[in-house]
Amino acid sequence: MRFDVLTLFPDLFSGYLGESLVKKAIQRNLIDVQLHDFRNWTTDKHKKVDDRPYGGGPGMVIMADPVVRCFEDLQNEGPPNHLVLLSPQGKRLDQKTVERFAKLPRLTLLCGRYEGFDQRVVDVLEPEEVSLGDFVLNGGEVAAMAIIDAVMRLIPGTLGDEKSHIDDSFSSGNRGLEYPHYTRPAEYRGLRVPEILLSGNHDRIHQWREEQGKKRTQERRKDLMDHEDSSDLDPNG
Ligand SMILES: C[S@@+](CC[C@H](N)C(=O)[O-])C[C@H]1O[C@@H](n2cnc3c(N)ncnc32)[C@H](O)[C@@H]1O
Repeated sequence: MRFDVLTLFPDLFSGYLGESLVKKAIQRNLIDVQLHDFRNWTTDKHKKVDDRPYGGGPGMVIMADPVVRCFEDLQNEGPPNHLVLLSPQGKRLDQKTVERFAKLPRLTLLCGRYEGFDQRVVDVLEPEEVSLGDFVLNGGEVAAMAIIDAVMRLIPGTLGDEKSHIDDSFSSGNRGLEYPHYTRPAEYRGLRVPEILLSGNHDRIHQWREEQGKKRTQERRKDLMDHEDSSDLDPNG
C-alpha cells in the first residue's frame, strides 16, 4: 500500500519511519511512504504558503493553491488515490475507518498547520476529513502518523504474528475491548496470574478471555455495547 503525506514538516517523520514495524514494512515493500513538502508547489518567490485570514483574527491560514496543485500532480502518478484531510473538525477516527483505509491501494494524508487550510482546499479537492479526537494538535503530522500506524498493522505480513490484530480492541473479530494479558513471572508482588491461564486448557482459556473482554467493555466502554455490530458483546444477553 502506498501512503503520500503532504506536509510542511517532512522531517518530523524520519524518526517514526526509521524504527520498528514501520521500518520493516518499508524494507519489505509492504508499504511505501512518500513525503511531499507542498511548499515546493508555491509560485511565490519567498516560498510563502500562508497568509492572514480575510475578516481579521489571529493566526495564519494555509493558501489553497500550493496544496491543490501538489495533490493534482500526485493524482497523475501511481494507483488511484483517496485523500484524507486531517482536521479536528473531521469525523473521529475509529477502527472501522482504519479497516476501510487498509483495503485501499493508496491513501494521501494532508496535514494542516497554523489555523488550518483555506476552505477552498476542501471545496476543490473534496477530501474525507478525519479527526484524531476532540482536541487540537499543532499540526496534522502526528495524526497522519497515527493513521499510518493503525492502517499498516492490518496489511498482511507487517506484524510478527498474523493473528495478533484479530482480537485487538475494536477490531472486526472483537468490536469491544480485549481481555487482560499476563506474562512471566507467574507471581509478581503477591499478585498471581489467573490459574486458568496456566491450565493449558485452551477451550477454557478462550472462554475466560471472551468473558473478561466483555466485562471490561461493560465496565469501561458501555457505548461499544450499544453499537449495532456489538450485540454479541452483552454479557447478560
Ligand atoms: C492548530 S490546528 C487548527 C485548528 C483549527 N483552527 C480549528 O479550530 O479547527 C492545525 C492543524 O492541526 C491538525 N489537527 C489539529 N487537531 C487535530 C485533530 N484533533 N485531528 C486531526 N488533525 C488535527 C489539522 O491538520 C489542523 O489544520
